Amino acid sequence: DRGIACLAALSETHQILQKTCRDFANAELAPHARRHDREQLYPAEQVRRLGELGLMSVAVQEEYGGTGLDYQAYAIGMEEVARGDAAVSIVMGVNNLYLGAVQQHGTEAQKQEFLVPYTQGKHIAFYALSEPGSGSDASAASTTAKPNAGGDYLLNGTKAWISNSKEASGGIIFATIDKSLKHKGITAFLTEKNVPGLSIAKKESKLGMCASSTCQLTLDDVCVPQSQLLGSPGDGFKIAMGSLDCGRIGIAAQSTGIAQAALELAIDYAEKRVAFGQRLARLQMIQQKLADMALRVETARLLTWRAAWLKDNGLSITKEAAMAKLHASETATYCAHQCIQILGGMGYTTDLPAEMYYRNARVTEIYEGTSEIQRIVIANCVLQSISN
Ligand code: CAA
Repeated sequence: DRGIACLAALSETHQILQKTCRDFANAELAPHARRHDREQLYPAEQVRRLGELGLMSVAVQEEYGGTGLDYQAYAIGMEEVARGDAAVSIVMGVNNLYLGAVQQHGTEAQKQEFLVPYTQGKHIAFYALSEPGSGSDASAASTTAKPNAGGDYLLNGTKAWISNSKEASGGIIFATIDKSLKHKGITAFLTEKNVPGLSIAKKESKLGMCASSTCQLTLDDVCVPQSQLLGSPGDGFKIAMGSLDCGRIGIAAQSTGIAQAALELAIDYAEKRVAFGQRLARLQMIQQKLADMALRVETARLLTWRAAWLKDNGLSITKEAAMAKLHASETATYCAHQCIQILGGMGYTTDLPAEMYYRNARVTEIYEGTSEIQRIVIANCVLQSISN
């Protein structure tokens, strides 16, 4: 099992959730993951089931149709889903990222219109921050939002690498009301996707996470009523950064799930495969790899749960979420790499899922802030705490 010590630290609710999600992932996600990946098929039925299980809105209050649990539960659910199929977990992760922002910053009317419909898996959302010219440098966004005579906003520009956007019914778009204001000009807008001027320019062909869509969105005079402005004009950057802090707990959990899957596959293979007259698992060179993988998976999980615990207790998570995301995503890459190494030729073929874990792991070091950005965030926090 994956560590009695970890399980014992969980409440009964969290343990039940973990078991439910693990059984669901084993029975309904893992068996379809490679076909969906190969055929780049959106996992519609699996997302519907995530909705039924309450996983599309884990930390959203029940009065808005959410599951009413906490970020610890979210982290547990994400890990188990990602262990079964990481591409399904990114649909869940981006939806929860969006819902977190709307729950925290939305007015009551906005919550009814833009939160409630997205909680059950029937509708999913996107989160449009990045642009062709600004990924890491989020405050340099050049999609513009100009108020018209009626006080509504006209949005123009291009958003890039937007997860979920092909199937989404709506989402958040970050745009600037005045580029000279830099981050203080960024403003967040809620919108449905099926509105005049908003279109998908291109669906990306990707290395991994092939069952989830990633598209470029073009905005050509998209009219967003003032009532759909999330927060106030100029609040967008802080809304984005705050919700990404929480989102990074999700990506950390997702990465831990990929790493766990790679570890389990490596153990299973090492127990069965014979070389040099004994099972691989008896060879110290292989044991060292398994030990290093297990160590990293458990530290990734602990860092993720620590960040979730801090969030659930109303404490600052910027540094801790960045640490969890950084360590867990690098762990996913490391474990998938070592898994292929242990499996050798078998790991390199598509007969086993090791190569898919490797491809899926790679993006966890890129989206919701690259590893380099996480290091900048951590360094800033550490330096601030020393100067204070
Ligand atoms: N929470 C709240 N406020 C924050 C914050 C946080 N975590 N981090 C910074 N801020 C505030 C600062 O306090 C500052 O406020 P003041 O104006 O009051 O001083 C303001 O924001 C500007 O802060 P910085 O000067 O630190 O901003 P910066 O321009 O140097 O950027 C950065 C900092 C860390 C590099 C940031 O741009 C960043 O995180 N970039 C990565 C963007 C990212 O993660 N993109 C992911 C795209 S979304 C995605 O991937 C979803 C998907 O589809 C999978």
